[in-house]
Amino acid sequence: MNHSVNRKLLSDNKLEPTFAERLKTFREDHAPRKKVLFVTPEYTGLIKAGGLGDVSAALPRALLHQHDVRILIPGYRSILQKNFPMKIVARLEGLAKIPACKIGQIQLENGPIIYLLLCPELYDRTGSPYASPEGNEWDDNHIRFARLGLAAADLALGKGHLSWRPDIVHSNDWPSALAPAYMALRHQSTPTVFTIHNLAFQGLFNPETGNDIGLPAQVFNTEEMEFFGKLSFLKAGLVYSNSITTVSENYAREITRPEFGCGLHGLLQKKSAQGQLQGITNGIDDSWEPSTDPYLVESFSPRQWEAKRANTRYVENRFNLAANDGPMFAVVSRLAPQKGVDLTLGIADSLVRAGGRLAVMGTGDSSLENALVKLAKRYPKQVGVHIGFNENESRRFFAGSDFLLMPSRFEPCGLSQMYAQRFGSLPIATCTGGLADTIEDGLNGFLFKEATLSSYNEAIQRALNVYEYPELLNAMRCHAMNSPQYWRESVRPYHQLYQQVINKRPYPHTGTTHLISGGLRQCR
Ligand code: ADP
Ligand code: GLC
Repeated sequence: MNHSVNRKLLSDNKLEPTFAERLKTFREDHAPRKKVLFVTPEYTGLIKAGGLGDVSAALPRALLHQHDVRILIPGYRSILQKNFPMKIVARLEGLAKIPACKIGQIQLENGPIIYLLLCPELYDRTGSPYASPEGNEWDDNHIRFARLGLAAADLALGKGHLSWRPDIVHSNDWPSALAPAYMALRHQSTPTVFTIHNLAFQGLFNPETGNDIGLPAQVFNTEEMEFFGKLSFLKAGLVYSNSITTVSENYAREITRPEFGCGLHGLLQKKSAQGQLQGITNGIDDSWEPSTDPYLVESFSPRQWEAKRANTRYVENRFNLAANDGPMFAVVSRLAPQKGVDLTLGIADSLVRAGGRLAVMGTGDSSLENALVKLAKRYPKQVGVHIGFNENESRRFFAGSDFLLMPSRFEPCGLSQMYAQRFGSLPIATCTGGLADTIEDGLNGFLFKEATLSSYNEAIQRALNVYEYPELLNAMRCHAMNSPQYWRESVRPYHQLYQQVINKRPYPHTGTTHLISGGLRQCR
């Protein structure tokens, strides 16, 4: 059993910053406000498929104190149906098979200005940002997301008569990765930042699709957009942007190795050696506050464990589970191979035998969904499964559980473990990616070495042991609740990065081709 909790907590006193450090901080804090166009396919509050939506909503809001950040996102049907007051602020031309579009401006309460990319033939559809309601990816995704990248590049160039022109274009994951590509090919001077939220999603298309989106055939080479015979949007983001970030320090190291690099580790090693790849660990937004959360059955602070327990009762009633004093385990997750849900299915019997209950909320692979539903039928009093996702209810799962299961095979950062920690639920997670950066084993959660049943089982056993010692359990809960960083406390590295990419200009031309006034020409 790990008894180092209190010793570690007491030894956490920080050293005073030196004069030089304070001066640097002062200079950074008083640097001129920059105009940042944050380009993303998801934004929590409008549309989301996972953590990218959460970061896209929370990070820009935290940056607003120092910068004029505005969002560019496709105007999907589900967003337009919310009927926000909107004004049309720009019109942009098409390119090849990319249709022309309009830009509509909306603003949510306490949030940045949002530019909606209005192009009904591409976005006025039901389903997720990427796929039909049946889960089939749209055939024209290359055009849908080239439209997004091209619009960002056009706005940076001042096209469309929008009076606001960004100083920096910050794009996120493959759906917005063509922004730096179009910008580099047209020799635009606005600096670009590209953030990798998940290297496993690459936006790979047949090479012929390059014609449809106005790319010159010459970009189809291994130094630019070719990836094993496919046209890779993600690779374009890596090749053409001036600076790359990813969402935790550990993942930034991992992706330079073959095991995690998804075939791009060589390029990422090069970028890292050139100082162009940096890990900045995600934070969480201010709404993850258990003492004020309106969606909890009862709100609570550290040590108000009876109030936390009321949320456990909610989860029990929700699934008609046995109301006893055994530990409550939760899974709140996309149901995908990445998340190791199959491993949780593998340990479920032993968890139930040990007196635990399991509550699951998630959607994803139908085979995993079916297996979970079957498990709940086998153990109706111990296992409850909700196939679906509801943000507000997910908060009761975090608050109502003692432990959150996250046996991910890889995890760029992970937000769910931090949400759980804030709500006093201890994550049990693989020691990978951002999980390793945000969980301290035996202090605010449990880490296990590799995503295997034996390694996972060993961590579950340690968690069950701690559950037997309420004093230790509660000390860990208190530490966990104070562990995750809010974006407002952790946004500084992005602020510094924005200063750096602006100061470093001009950038040498990347790649071998460039685009002139709508057409493309090869450079010498
Ligand atoms: P990822 O982005 O890989 O799914 P994170 O832990 O970073 O993992 O973020 C998960 C976010 O997505 C959390 O806000 C979580 O509540 C939410 N979420 C979990 N499952 C689903 C789902 N099936 N659909 C949509 N959002 C989900
Ligand atoms: C991705 C990753 C996840 C990360 C999230 C937000 O979806 O899978 O680990 O937390 O993006 O950056």
